[in-house]
Amino acid sequence: MGIEGKTVLVTGANRGIGKALVAEALARGAARVYAGTRQPLADADARVTPLTLDITDAAQIQAAAGQVESLDILINNAGIMLPDIPFDPAILERHMAVNFHGTNAVTQAFQPALVRSGGAIITMNSAAALSPLPPFPSYSISKSALFSLTRTMRAFLAGQGVSVHAVLAGPIDTDMTRQLPIPKSSPESAAQAIFDAVDKGEEDIFPDATMAPMTDMWRNGPDKILERQFAELAQGAPPA
Ligand SMILES: NC(=O)c1ccc[n+]([C@@H]2O[C@H](COP(=O)([O-])OP(=O)(O)OC[C@H]3O[C@@H](n4cnc5c(N)ncnc54)[C@H](OP(=O)(O)O)[C@@H]3O)[C@@H](O)[C@H]2O)c1
Repeated sequence: MGIEGKTVLVTGANRGIGKALVAEALARGAARVYAGTRQPLADADARVTPLTLDITDAAQIQAAAGQVESLDILINNAGIMLPDIPFDPAILERHMAVNFHGTNAVTQAFQPALVRSGGAIITMNSAAALSPLPPFPSYSISKSALFSLTRTMRAFLAGQGVSVHAVLAGPIDTDMTRQLPIPKSSPESAAQAIFDAVDKGEEDIFPDATMAPMTDMWRNGPDKILERQFAELAQGAPPA
């Protein structure tokens, strides 16, 4: 799925990777980009339509779905990452509210539009979905749960012409990772790699220097073998 001429929605579009994804979608000729943000957003490009969208707010999600007439690509980017050592169930709930339930609610709301367009869902996930980051247990759990949901949606939506992509990112240089003293890739390079991979039809995307070497190993690993086997069990419509 190329971006040119397409309508794209990005959540968490005001900074970090979301902002880079908006810029890259415009650079690739997107016809319209809905920029979902919690605070009012000013963007000079006439193709950008601001959308008030806290992904934990059911009323805002409903209003946004009503405002977006058609949609080709939904990019679930909004997310939080808080440290919680020792593990704190209250912090887990905050992560689940945003990273899992919020992302799921947005996906459900826009699913009918994406089925109509034969579109794509791109969900920002993390290396932490595959192996927990020790200082961030709640973040890791929420992203693992999200990855499971993403793969479930992939199996059910394949028959309806919607492709579902998971971005398994390593460290990207944004506010989220500002305090981590480790090598990071730029959000701009990650955004380019994400759209390049979607163009190539890659389901699971490793968009940065740390994770890119995993690509071939992942494609042929036991996880993907099982996913392909289990996908045969997905018949009929997605779960309500
Ligand atoms: N940076 C990395 O190394 C890295 C690695 C792997 C995966 N990721 C994932 O990539 C995505 C973007 O991360 P980032 O690094 O760009 O983070 P960031 O710089 O901290 O930006 C997070 C974005 O999410 C938005 N957001 C947070 N809670 C929200 C809510 N309830 N509703 C709507 N928007 C909300 C923020 O909006 P406000 O400005 O209003 O707070 C902001 O736009 C996240 O899902 C993250 O888990 C990042």
